[in-house]
Amino acid sequence: MSAQIIDGKGIAARIRTEVKTAVDARIKQGLRAPGLAVVLIGENPASRVYVRNKRKACDEVGFVSRSYDLPADTTQQQLLELIDTLNEDDAIDGILVQLPLPTHFQEELVIERIHPDKDVDGFHPYNIGRLAQRMPLLQPCTPKGVMTLLESTGEDLHGKHAVIVGASNIVGRPMTLELLLGGATTTTCHRFTKNLSHHVSQGDIVVAAVGKPGIVQGQWIKEGAIVIDVGINRQADGTLTGDVDFAAAAEKASWITPVPGGVGPMTVATLLQNTLYAANELH
Ligand code: GUN
Repeated sequence: MSAQIIDGKGIAARIRTEVKTAVDARIKQGLRAPGLAVVLIGENPASRVYVRNKRKACDEVGFVSRSYDLPADTTQQQLLELIDTLNEDDAIDGILVQLPLPTHFQEELVIERIHPDKDVDGFHPYNIGRLAQRMPLLQPCTPKGVMTLLESTGEDLHGKHAVIVGASNIVGRPMTLELLLGGATTTTCHRFTKNLSHHVSQGDIVVAAVGKPGIVQGQWIKEGAIVIDVGINRQADGTLTGDVDFAAAAEKASWITPVPGGVGPMTVATLLQNTLYAANELH
């Protein structure tokens, strides 16, 4: 088999157009534009690129985008006070604090300070709990974006065996909850998992979210599986590569996402959807 490519870039562009149309309609009705505050602390080069993309996407769909670029020595108290101010700000529907934070921050404490109705990343324990109990409100952007990509294949997820490689709070864990909600049977692999190749070879759907190039080998993939590569790894020559050995996996899979142009653009598009949802339904 030679896999069909899931065009994340194209699907994300369609979503951005839909969001822009909805923002224009809000403004025609005399409502304000949705507002997103994006907070970046320190100089992490990957975070700077991600945040720039998020802010640009906000501007393009007509959101009010507020930027807070704070130095690496910002104190936790200063960040908590900024979040308190943004929680009270009626022009702001979403608050995004880019992760990872410098090591002197307690990330859980920072995330919990964001009002759940403004948690457009979907990382607050309230929103994760809602997802776990099949009552999703604001859902983590990357896993929700992956579900949109899976939907685009037209394949029925019910009863399929989904193998998630990686168990982070940002992707792996909420990805497992999304796939459960979608009717799949799930296996979550992590750093202590024995015999990773065995688990991956059982997957009708494989989602790789580790951040290690080539950790999922192409020959492990079951014939006809759907392969979603969340990894974005910068190589020595500056190019990007995923967690999956793409060429070999594409020989076995029915559908596969490329890197770049697969999951990456969906994270930003889903953030826009979440912010619009917060403005329309929660504020
Ligand atoms: N770091 C990596 N991915 C994300 C994300 O989706 N949101 C935030 N806030 N930080 C991240």
